[in-house]
Amino acid sequence: MNVPDSVATALADRDVAGATCLEAGAGVGNATAGLLDAGAEHVYAVTDRADHAEGVRERFPDDDRVELIEADLRELPLPADAVDAITAHALFNVLPNDAAAPIAAELTRVAAPGATLVVDDYDPMPAESPVRRLFAVENAAAELAGARPALTFYPADGLRRLFGGHGWKHDRTRTILEPVPWSESHLTAHTAEVRGHAASLPDALGQQLITEAERLAKTTGHSDEGRMYSVAMALPE
Ligand SMILES: C[S@@+](CC[C@H](N)C(=O)[O-])C[C@H]1O[C@@H](n2cnc3c(N)ncnc32)[C@H](O)[C@@H]1O
Repeated sequence: MNVPDSVATALADRDVAGATCLEAGAGVGNATAGLLDAGAEHVYAVTDRADHAEGVRERFPDDDRVELIEADLRELPLPADAVDAITAHALFNVLPNDAAAPIAAELTRVAAPGATLVVDDYDPMPAESPVRRLFAVENAAAELAGARPALTFYPADGLRRLFGGHGWKHDRTRTILEPVPWSESHLTAHTAEVRGHAASLPDALGQQLITEAERLAKTTGHSDEGRMYSVAMALPE
């Protein structure tokens, strides 16, 4: 089913066979594919972006185990205790810090007693990292255009403690990808994000940010750096 290695590694020691699951922040449904591959009975794939929702529809056209939900993770149209397993794979890095806490609360509300939670994300990158410098330009453009950052890198321990505050018990933290292969197409996609934010800025300012992003993407080319971690937790029965 074409499951990325990082997703497969994160789920390898989780038992989701027959479970009702939720992929929080579905993108094109990478963790949905991983959960199905691992035997999940039903997966709610949640995203707030119409283009990502379309990607999920295209990827699982006739699979009645997949239920696409286009909604904000802060207000899920699901009852309490509805799911046995939740994945948040590469979700938190796109969440501004005012969204992280309410999403943690809402994921806890819909999780049944005994539920499993797998939170996978990227370590914060060192200041000298060329990829981080590109992300800094993207964040500057996003802040100037919409008053929120595009990317926030949460340390594993911070997310563990955030969910710990909602009663989740830590099971394990492990590395699932190291180094992270930031490919040319990745960097091109982030440069395109800068262009998108720059469109709503004064021309000279926007152009300066675009020029810097293009320069950084070009001089970096691609970069193998950083780490993706996986934190697994469980709710008490
Ligand atoms: C980087 S993608 C992660 C994709 C996928 N989990 C994967 O592993 O490839 C982040 C996803 O989270 C979604 N997302 C971010 N904030 C959200 C929110 N508040 N409510 C619902 N979805 C959200 C985005 O729309 C996007 O689909």
